[in-house]
Amino acid sequence: MPAITEPGRHGIAIIGAGAIVTSAHLPAYRSMGARVRGIYDIDSTRAERAAATFGIPETYPDLDALLNDHEVDIVDIAVPPQVQEQLVPKLITAGKHLLCQKPLAMTAMTAQTLVGLASAASVRMGVNVNMRWSPAIRAIKQLMEKEVFGPVTSVLMNVNFWDDWTTWPWLRNERELLIRYDAIHLIDSLRFLFGEAQSIYATASRLPNSPVKGETDVSLVFRYPEFTTFIHDSADNWAGDTCAEFRIEGTDATTKGILGVWYDYPVGRDDRIDLQRNCQRGDWITFHPPGRWVPDAWAWTMAEMFDAIDSGRDPIHNGQDHVQTLKYVEAAYESIQHNRVVTL
Ligand SMILES: NC(=O)c1ccc[n+]([C@@H]2O[C@H](COP(=O)([O-])OP(=O)(O)OC[C@H]3O[C@@H](n4cnc5c(N)ncnc54)[C@H](O)[C@@H]3O)[C@@H](O)[C@H]2O)c1
Repeated sequence: MPAITEPGRHGIAIIGAGAIVTSAHLPAYRSMGARVRGIYDIDSTRAERAAATFGIPETYPDLDALLNDHEVDIVDIAVPPQVQEQLVPKLITAGKHLLCQKPLAMTAMTAQTLVGLASAASVRMGVNVNMRWSPAIRAIKQLMEKEVFGPVTSVLMNVNFWDDWTTWPWLRNERELLIRYDAIHLIDSLRFLFGEAQSIYATASRLPNSPVKGETDVSLVFRYPEFTTFIHDSADNWAGDTCAEFRIEGTDATTKGILGVWYDYPVGRDDRIDLQRNCQRGDWITFHPPGRWVPDAWAWTMAEMFDAIDSGRDPIHNGQDHVQTLKYVEAAYESIQHNRVVTL
């Protein structure tokens, strides 16, 4: 976990004052003591409301005002990806380091172009795939690094919740929905924990009366050389019995648990991890890793940005890595469209 020290040493400007900024970005920065210089939203009332709530000194009247704020070295973007991919080149030209939202762009190819621009301008680019920094995934990563599981033999993630898509009018007509905007976290965490898969097979469906055009229930099967992972992600759970569970089996240990955020998002509940070691039936150790995905993972994501900028390296959640996650997203849609296994 990146250390959160001297949190005021970088000046941050935020673009977008929507749902995720007010429920996650700003609460996280307030709790870590980060210095948010200003905020800009095309809807100025949203920016003003966020500034008043979180004590932000500036609301920029336009993008140029933000670009010309010399106390800002990191721009944190949280706008729809179609907008983000237009803004990023201007921010790079202004020499600002960038923490972008996921998905970085609407295609992996466009994302790759943006990553190339950032690299050529020596601008550090991170993408907010913050499930990586959620308590359960961080804890599993540490167990993996300590080789607690031995060779992994099976991975299962089942996220089954209800989403009110009408909250985001810009998503209503998206033909590619749940994988691009939600399961992308699960895919990214899978890559973070287990590395690159060989192939994917995906299926998708949606409720007949859904207010959105895109898929709202997906099953993703990833083949790794030695094991298979199965991800089920559904935002169609009208029954109200939300569940967000994982299970990882290895030759030496098994872990299972819950990803708390999906229960009553974005407040959620604590993540839980149950661990059984040495293949002995019976005793499970249960623990709750500290923190919550929302908002704590946002603080760790920004802290990793700080550390990367200060030490002249790319952040762990860098843009180039995210391009690979976007390629998995595109492979999933290709698999759905052609009903076949797609090699990654
Ligand atoms: N990492 C995560 O866990 C996570 C969670 C939720 C959302 N997101 C991502 O964050 C982004 C925003 O999501 P949201 O839920 O806050 O959406 P939202 O619709 O609530 O907010 C988007 C904001 O962007 C503003 N905006 C639009 N065009 C703009 C422009 N040209 N310049 C400035 N502001 C502009 C809108 O006025 C709005 O306030 C999306 O890309 C979404 O995928 C990420």
